Amino acid sequence: MSAALKTVAGGAPPRHFLELMDIEPGALRRMLDLGTRAKRGESLGQPLAGKTVALIFEKPSTRTRVSFEVGIRQLGGQVTTLTKGDTQLGRGETPADTARVLSRYVDAIVLRTDDVRKIRELAEYATVPVINGLTDISHPCQLMADVMTFEEHRGPIAGQVVAWTGDGNNVAQSFIQAAARFNFTLRLATPPELAPPADLVAWARAQGAKVELTNDPSAAVAGARCVVTDTWVSMSDEGEATRNRHNLLAPYQLNARLLSHAAPDAIVMHCLPAHRGEEITDEVMDGPQSVVFDEAENRLHAQKGVLLWALGLA
Ligand code: CP
Repeated sequence: MSAALKTVAGGAPPRHFLELMDIEPGALRRMLDLGTRAKRGESLGQPLAGKTVALIFEKPSTRTRVSFEVGIRQLGGQVTTLTKGDTQLGRGETPADTARVLSRYVDAIVLRTDDVRKIRELAEYATVPVINGLTDISHPCQLMADVMTFEEHRGPIAGQVVAWTGDGNNVAQSFIQAAARFNFTLRLATPPELAPPADLVAWARAQGAKVELTNDPSAAVAGARCVVTDTWVSMSDEGEATRNRHNLLAPYQLNARLLSHAAPDAIVMHCLPAHRGEEITDEVMDGPQSVVFDEAENRLHAQKGVLLWALGLA
């Protein structure tokens, strides 16, 4: 074996970034501090020089793919990106075997998948860090950018009220984890059929998090400093009949009337891509309270902190 190839023996266990609930608040805060420093223009140097990160996308992506590719290069690293048709992962090779092979080539793996079992198996067998680039149940990189965005515009998020309106999807579920890790109140308004999992809500509450569930979007949004929504048909739902979801979710649209219930200085977030005219109106998305494009930009900065932490460099 060439000295350039990775060995799998010895060393500390890899730092996986799979779920916010797995990571101590202090470590998450260090990642955000690095992201904020990067956004302010401070050089983080070239700590990834000589390192390569594999990005695997089983589902489409614009923001996650480009922000990781650019961020890794800005930190001095190299990147190789595999989409669904490029990898044997979708053709029967197990995540375990994929993990064991890639760990010998690269220094970290980012995976986007619609089956959380795949990333768990990948992480179990990888000897390099695995980073969650979205699964059917979570999107923790998005939440790092979202918390960073709130704090950039409104100061510390601890103690603030954030409202979610719409589907209790993977991003909503990461918001629940974030409420526990960053100590903000989260009010989620969803149709009863699309509420987030009860066990996740119970976990967050057991951590001391204030997570409130309602079916009334106006009640959720009342007085909130931040109002968030997301697409009504997540990538993991694309095989489902969508008409019923649209009917269920129509009353949860983030429009000017709903936003008028929030605090006067409330900001609006959406992880994008948006389906304008469905979960959010043009008026709100393009309005003065919207910070959605700062939020998208902050994926780049926040993920630098995630990468440096996962690689043991922060
Ligand atoms: N928000 C988000 O993850 O965007 P992409 O699907 O474009 O990566």
